Amino acid sequence: MASVMFVCLGNICRSPAAEGILHHKAVIEKRQPKLQVSSSGLGNWHEGELPDRRMRAAAQSRGWSLVSRAQQFHHGDFFEFDLIFAADQSVLSALQAQATEDSHTGKIHLMTAFSERYPGQEVPDPYYGEQADFELVLDMLDDACEGILRQLDPS
Ligand code: 4NP
Repeated sequence: MASVMFVCLGNICRSPAAEGILHHKAVIEKRQPKLQVSSSGLGNWHEGELPDRRMRAAAQSRGWSLVSRAQQFHHGDFFEFDLIFAADQSVLSALQAQATEDSHTGKIHLMTAFSERYPGQEVPDPYYGEQADFELVLDMLDDACEGILRQLDPS
């Protein structure tokens, strides 16, 4: 079964939101119940923490529970996951720099790679932003996750 890893900087805003949304759509809504979804950050500053409370609140009001604990991306994740999605270009570049095999580089995409409304756009870091910035991230990730589900199962 397919496995997906979302990566951002701190693993407390964008990537845990992406994880929670895709997990909800795939597993809780039973659209792809066996899909494995995880998230991580380039840094380890927030290791073990729940997602940012502003992001949790914004997601919860759309029916998505964010319950993951922050963890750092590790090289072994290149072997474990089929698709690795970066929040923005700087995360994408950092992941590409860590990849040591072409097969690993080929797994790395932007989170919006399969998005209909925001194709190829960066998901902006909302950490120093306001409510509207968190809502935009959720709009983008909602659409991005629909695209990922279509990509995994076009039927
Ligand atoms: P994220 O947002 O990458 O979407 O989780 C950030 C969270 C924390 C920090 C940076 C970005 N930080 O520097 O602590």
